[in-house]
Amino acid sequence: MFYFYAFTLCCLLWVLFHCSVNCVDIDIETIWRECNETFPASEESLISFGKNGTIPDENDSTARCFADCYGKKTTMLTSDGSLNWTTLDFIMRSYNMKPTATETFGKCQKDTSNVECMKSYLSLRCVAETIASLSNIR
Ligand SMILES: *[C@@H]1O[C@H](CO)[C@@H](O)[C@H](O)[C@H]1NC(C)=O
Ligand SMILES: *[C@@H]1O[C@H](CO)[C@@H](O)[C@H](O)[C@H]1NC(C)=O
Ligand SMILES: *[C@@H]1O[C@H](CO)[C@@H](O)[C@H](O)[C@H]1NC(C)=O
Ligand SMILES: *[C@@H]1O[C@H](CO)[C@@H](O)[C@H](O)[C@H]1NC(C)=O
Repeated sequence: MFYFYAFTLCCLLWVLFHCSVNCVDIDIETIWRECNETFPASEESLISFGKNGTIPDENDSTARCFADCYGKKTTMLTSDGSLNWTTLDFIMRSYNMKPTATETFGKCQKDTSNVECMKSYLSLRCVAETIASLSNIR
């Protein structure tokens, strides 16, 4: 059931495109399960995160670190919790978007929280919000 919760517009499609291009075998269902095992966040948090990248209680470090784990394993994030522009550019190209990832998601790079896993969570939440606003326009 895990993969139903994956970011609908973002990660799921990204994985499909990604695999069709260079066959890097990123298995989103496995990533989701592994991160849930390591960081057993509440069902509510996981469903919310999978839907729109937001967790209900942002003080919940387990839920934040689930996001951190998920972001790093999907290569959306680098090891320091920053956005991976290679991956984001790939997503943009997959949607035939003209602007570069930096133009689109550049504003997502301003959070530099020292709270555990917060930077990763905020980076992903911002990407999810940005993608949601793009798909509302379309
Ligand atoms: C997370 O893992 C628990 C325990 O294995 C499982 O019961 C639950 O369904 C999983 N939650 C999600 C959203 O994948
Ligand atoms: C994200 O989804 C959750 C679960 O449906 C919802 O409670 C929350 O309000 C949503 N947040 C945003 C910013 O859309
Ligand atoms: C989260 O933590 C901050 C700082 O510790 C605190 O001010 C805030 O009230 C907390 N929020 C919730 C929802 O617990
Ligand atoms: C960024 O993601 C790509 C795959 O899209 C990966 O090959 C690369 O190692 C990642 N870079 C960093 C710094 O994590």
